[in-house]
Amino acid sequence: MDVKTDVLIIGSGIAALQAARILGTHFHVQIVTKTSVKTSSSYRAQGGIAAVTTATDHTTFHIADTLRAGEYHHVQKNVNTLIEDGAELITSLLKEGLPIDRQANGEPLLGLEGAHSHHRILHAGGDQTGKHFIHYLLNQLPSTVTLNENELAYELLLNRQGECIGALTIGDTGTKCYLAHHIILASGGAGALYSCTSNFSTNTGDGIALAYRAGAAISDMEFMQFHPSLLWCDGEAKGLVSEAVRGAGGIFVDAQRQPIMKGQDLAPRHITAHTLFIRRLAGQETFLDISMIEQFTEKFPTIAQLCMDNGIALQDGLIPITPGSHFLMGGVIADDTGKTSIPFLYAIGETACTGVHGANRLASNSLLEGLTFGYKMAQTIIDIGCHQQQFEIQSTDFSQPLPALFTKKELQQNMTQALGIVRNPLDIHYFAQQLPPLQELLHVDTTQLHRQQIELYMMHIVAALMAHAAMTRTETRGAHIRTDCPYMDTQWANRWIIFSQGQMEV
Ligand code: SIN
Repeated sequence: MDVKTDVLIIGSGIAALQAARILGTHFHVQIVTKTSVKTSSSYRAQGGIAAVTTATDHTTFHIADTLRAGEYHHVQKNVNTLIEDGAELITSLLKEGLPIDRQANGEPLLGLEGAHSHHRILHAGGDQTGKHFIHYLLNQLPSTVTLNENELAYELLLNRQGECIGALTIGDTGTKCYLAHHIILASGGAGALYSCTSNFSTNTGDGIALAYRAGAAISDMEFMQFHPSLLWCDGEAKGLVSEAVRGAGGIFVDAQRQPIMKGQDLAPRHITAHTLFIRRLAGQETFLDISMIEQFTEKFPTIAQLCMDNGIALQDGLIPITPGSHFLMGGVIADDTGKTSIPFLYAIGETACTGVHGANRLASNSLLEGLTFGYKMAQTIIDIGCHQQQFEIQSTDFSQPLPALFTKKELQQNMTQALGIVRNPLDIHYFAQQLPPLQELLHVDTTQLHRQQIELYMMHIVAALMAHAAMTRTETRGAHIRTDCPYMDTQWANRWIIFSQGQMEV
């Protein structure tokens, strides 16, 4: 079945919906999302949105915090835009009615998170920020926007001029071919490539795999951020325990309730996650002591419910925790308006690599990115309008059969072993060799595959990009530690590992 629309958006998180509500005032917009609008990382976001909204804070402080956390591996211009334009945008969204928690005097209630020098985290419903923001945006979608859930995009379509003109999807009613003037990838990150993650199991990096197959430039795939505090029960990570809990006074303790971080509980994530990871390897348990936080359940209803669902007695004041994968800094290279290396293909949110997160994202900067760059992208597309592209699909040489793949569980275990917080080059090499070669993966014919096979196949592409990038960057920077070079190497400063047209360059 063929569907013609003006703008096709793949994904339904905060960036997608922010763009859709603006684009919908000018165009027909079709959103397709792999599962449901409630299974994006945005929807699940607890901590909040970082933005300068008070006179005691300043954008220069927020910029400095962002650069320091990300080890200066940034596109400085985009960082400035994010923080400065973001502060203005949030101020106007607050005036329009974006729901946030407020003090009795009406001023925003500002939280603190790791590596922030100031209280600047706006939140809603305590730890239900993402849910509140997504519903706010959904309620504003004009009738020109159609949202299809349970539809997985599995191929981008290009014309002979190399412009993106649409995508193929597979859903409950079979396959569809969408043709559009502008195609936006907003399908989130790839945390679910790991066994222990804060992400939904559906966050498998599909948008990045699609873009790679289409020849788009991709970068920073070696940088996966690990969150220090996921609820740990029955040998599994059960969900996020927001850093905002530590911002409210919570501290990491051992089984004897002795502090672990010596006052550094809100250090950048690679420091806290690494410390806790080493403890887990040594078989030592770690807890978040929340006994000093008054009205915990009112302040953190999602986390309280998560604990109760997993049999944790909150009155004891201890939540067992473990670190796990959380946010991919890398993705499809895009500018601050979402433009990628392929004309009329855009990438936004965690799917994109805009250089604003460096080698380690500052907490709560991602919702800011989704709203700010989603807005800028929408304005840019409105300015461009609907071009008269050639809607003739260029045939591809995707004719290879599916090579032997790991099962999803095996892939997650291998990723955790080889591309976790601490990385041994031998493990990375071994894992990269076990994966099918990238060239072989690139040319697979997806038209004969069923949905689970497509998802697993795309996970292997993303894993291979991450493994090759991690093998190539022979230093420690940001979110992970290389055992053979546990420090930053100046030779690697300001260098990006880029995959494009099936080739890797540094
Ligand atoms: C958290 O609430 O701890 C996560 C916030 C973020 O990753 O930005």
